[in-house]
Amino acid sequence: MKSSKPDFLNFQVDHMTILVDNKMYNVAYVVFRCILGAQPEDIIYNVRRSSAPGEPERSVTFATKLGQGANAKQELNNTMVALVQATEPKNKMSHVRSMLDDHQAVVHFQHVALRTPDLLSFHKHALDRGVRFITPILQDEHEDLIQVFSGEWYYPGSKPSGFFFEFVQRELSPALIKMLDERNRQSFFRDRTFLGLYDEKQREYESGKIEPFIDPIAFEKIHELVGNKNNWEITEEDIQRADQFLLESGKRLK
Ligand SMILES: [Fe+2]
Repeated sequence: MKSSKPDFLNFQVDHMTILVDNKMYNVAYVVFRCILGAQPEDIIYNVRRSSAPGEPERSVTFATKLGQGANAKQELNNTMVALVQATEPKNKMSHVRSMLDDHQAVVHFQHVALRTPDLLSFHKHALDRGVRFITPILQDEHEDLIQVFSGEWYYPGSKPSGFFFEFVQRELSPALIKMLDERNRQSFFRDRTFLGLYDEKQREYESGKIEPFIDPIAFEKIHELVGNKNNWEITEEDIQRADQFLLESGKRLK
C-alpha cells in the first residue's frame, strides 16, 4: 500500500476552522493577538455581514496566520486558523448556534483543511468510494485556491457531529483552470469562499438533512467487518474488503 501511494494522497494541513459563540469571538481575537502573536498584517480576512437589511454589520469570520516555516513558498508554509461566529438574530435558526448548543459548548472544532497537490484526482478517488461532498469544487476568486467540503463525520443513528473535512489545492496552473472551466462550467463556479460554505451549512441545518462523510450502508458493513476487533488485528485483507464496500457505495451513488 505504502509504495503505491499516489501523490494526491500526500496531504498537508492547510488550515483549521473553529466555531465559537458570540461571547467568545472577540476575546478569542484578542487571545490570537496577545498570546498567540498574530499581528494586524497576519489577519488574512475578516468578513462582515448584516443579519437583515438595516441591521449593523458584524464580523462573521476572520482568519489569522500564526506562523510560517522557513522554507518553500509562503502560502504553502503557513499555519492558519479561522474562527466563525453566528450573526443570525437570536430568534432565527443559526447552524453555528445549533452546533454549539448540541455540543453544550462555546467552542467547537469544525473542520480541518487538508491540502493535496492534485485535488481533481483526490476528488475522483473519494467519489469512487462514495464520499459525500456538500459543495462542488469551488474556486476562490481572491486566492489561488480550489476547494471542496465533505459531509460530516457521524454514523447511522448518531447525531451529526458538526465536524467535516475541506480538501484544497493551491498553486493552480493556468492549464488546470482552463481545463476546469471548459470541462465543468455548471458545477465549478467562482464564489466567495467562506460564504459558500456558510450558506450551505445553514441550508443543511435548516432542512435537518445533514450529509454524512461516507455512505451509511458502507459504514454498517465496515463496522460489521472490523468493529469487534482490536485495531492491530485489522488485516490487509480486511482493508481490501472494506475498500470494496466503499467502492460499491460509490457505484450506488452514481
Ligand atoms: Fe476552511
